[in-house]
Amino acid sequence: MTHKHSALRSKTAGFRFVDFLRREESFEEAFLDGMKASPRAIPCRFLYDAQGSALFDRICTLPEYYPTRTELSILEAHAGDIAKIIGPGAALIELGSGSSIKTRLLLDRMEAPAAYMPIDVSREHLRAAANGLAGDYPEIDVIAVCADYSAHFPLPAVDGRRVGFFPGSTIGNLTHGEARLLLAGWRERLGADGLMVVGVDLKKDPSRLLAAYDDAEGVTEAFIKNVLARANRELGADFDLSAFRYDVAWNEEAGRIEMRLEALADQSVAVAGERLFIGAGERIHIENSHKYAVEEFSALARRAGFSPRAVYIDPERLFSVHVLAAG
Ligand code: AVI
Repeated sequence: MTHKHSALRSKTAGFRFVDFLRREESFEEAFLDGMKASPRAIPCRFLYDAQGSALFDRICTLPEYYPTRTELSILEAHAGDIAKIIGPGAALIELGSGSSIKTRLLLDRMEAPAAYMPIDVSREHLRAAANGLAGDYPEIDVIAVCADYSAHFPLPAVDGRRVGFFPGSTIGNLTHGEARLLLAGWRERLGADGLMVVGVDLKKDPSRLLAAYDDAEGVTEAFIKNVLARANRELGADFDLSAFRYDVAWNEEAGRIEMRLEALADQSVAVAGERLFIGAGERIHIENSHKYAVEEFSALARRAGFSPRAVYIDPERLFSVHVLAAG
């Protein structure tokens, strides 16, 4: 695929890989800390090892899980409008880039984008996806950054207006406070004329939400239980996955889906040379997925210092894509 505005770029574009990930976070430490905390809770970022990422890819194609296809349809319909707001010669910076699929929709509509900077902790996946993209868009500078986008690291210099891209409603997996802090940090990094494009899942009928997180095939259950399966694989644990019930609920007050595992019986489990006792009925909190009304998210963005510029919503009002200005 050659960019339609390639003639406007005279400079030779290149590919760079920058690694800021000094030390991979220890799963063992985080898992044991989480299992000993009260209430027990494992950070949801540990769901994404190779097996978990494959399960999440399957979730994205499930009939009940509307966010992925709905966000894609919004971007297909409005990438041109978003590109107009962005203007010519901008640098697109993607937070948690994964396979960079949605990015291509934006890059295809942007006028003479100067650079694409995917940021991800998954080193080899990042390298492969960024390399593929650099091959398809030879006129764009591709700077792959291996880093945790929520951590402090020096953002490599890029030409043009900086545009943060955070699709997938991943922001929903953070608490409101964490989301505000993340946005405020990126507002600083993007600079006074920066923009941020954020995909945000909308509040809706709880039965629709619950179905999206409790699919008929049980893929989401397997995804959530993968954190215990991963402990079995990597930490020499002996969890019996059938001794846990997937417990999913809509918390109206907090505006979020909560995903937990509940022990069906008393059990003693070996993990990394330690023994943990888990009583029947005890729960392990695994993931939150916050949902926002449009105005609620705009207000959160304002508190982070952004000015909402535009918001695009599908006809069923399931999902939203917000364009926020840093200035
Ligand atoms: C990655 N994230 C936006 C997903 C969500 O919808 O909160 C993770 C997920 N968990 C279960 N299903 C999907």
